[in-house]
Amino acid sequence: MARNAARAADGIDEARLWQRLMAMARFGARADGGVDRQALSAEDVAARRQLIAWAEARGFACAVDPIGNLFVRRAGREPDLAPVLTGSHLDSQPTGGKFDGVYGVLAGFEVLEALEDLGLSTRRSVEAVAWTNEEGSRFQPGAMGSAAFAGRMDLAALRVGADRAGVRLGDALDATLAATPTAARRALGFPVAAYVESHIEQGPLLEADGKVIGAVTGIQGSRWFAVEVTGEAAHAGTTPLKIRKDALKAATAMVSALESLMADPSDVVRFTVGRFEVAPNSPNTVPDRVFFTIDFRHPDAAVLQRLGDQVEATCRAAARGCAVRVTQTFDAPPVDFAPAIVGLVSAAAARLGLPHRDIFSGAFHDAKFLAEVAPTGMVFVPCARGISHNPAESATASDLAAGARVLAEVVAELAAQ
Ligand code: HGY
Ligand code: MN
Ligand code: MN
Repeated sequence: MARNAARAADGIDEARLWQRLMAMARFGARADGGVDRQALSAEDVAARRQLIAWAEARGFACAVDPIGNLFVRRAGREPDLAPVLTGSHLDSQPTGGKFDGVYGVLAGFEVLEALEDLGLSTRRSVEAVAWTNEEGSRFQPGAMGSAAFAGRMDLAALRVGADRAGVRLGDALDATLAATPTAARRALGFPVAAYVESHIEQGPLLEADGKVIGAVTGIQGSRWFAVEVTGEAAHAGTTPLKIRKDALKAATAMVSALESLMADPSDVVRFTVGRFEVAPNSPNTVPDRVFFTIDFRHPDAAVLQRLGDQVEATCRAAARGCAVRVTQTFDAPPVDFAPAIVGLVSAAAARLGLPHRDIFSGAFHDAKFLAEVAPTGMVFVPCARGISHNPAESATASDLAAGARVLAEVVAELAAQ
């Protein structure tokens, strides 16, 4: 184990980490205790500016790339070597919690502060990163910043996408970049020695097992689709059903047929229709337009392929005379993390005397795309009842600090290599 590894964890300050998390929760704070800090929103900008202010106060260098990924760098002894990155995302779901994403960004920042407080130099530079638009709620798809960084999504194509209010991603991105003028500008993508991300589990396994640390072995695959159904608006009182092109009736038939397609007695398939919009949304007009989304996930690439490839035909077969357009908006195959990094996480948890286990992630994370360009791993900590993407999301200060200690050990070890 490298000289610094055992000591980096000693510099983690539980109270400081908790205070920063509560300070960040103010940006997009909801009355119900959750946060609404959607990607490239004013709330996201405020959170970015706060992170930069904390970083500049510690003398760390800040930089942003063309998709707005925000990097906070603590230089190593050999600054030209590829750095070790650690981070996650600042953006949240519209009804998000205080910890999803932001915990990984601030745990990474806490590692930089711990190293600085202890005066520990590292061979490689260490950078904490906030990836742009991991959630994919306002702008689809998710994990956009990390995917563009890894060369798996094209920035020019992403820039023309728009949110449901018609705001183009490129415009929101330019405004966000303009709002952080002190951050140096950096090219998109650079060599990375290793990436480690801390995150709440967003599921019930660690809590149920009495474990504090999850050494994440990989992430299941995700495929997202957008479905547009177009019928014909008509008078609800005068139009016979047999001549209607009712987009709502067709869309609900599609969802029902998709549920049959995705039926899985072993409860491994994850199939969700999270957005469902009807127009003109008037009680006495037959709907002529429906837009809905599909979030389909599975740990087995072959099942993801087989079932996902039937989505469009299943929708068309239930169209009932309406026009249908099915667009795949996200296609992220399952990924296994580098065994060496998974092993470092487990070994660090063991050294710190923290109950731990291997765990596979049902949620996707930026680590999914970093794993395509660098040795990558994740550190999970429990959240209460596994609740996430919900204002009630909660985690304990001690578990969050324990995860940051494991992260500090692993990052210090990797930065010494
Ligand atoms: O949807 C996801 O898995 C992630 O939490 N954005
Ligand atoms: Mn997340
Ligand atoms: Mn999330």
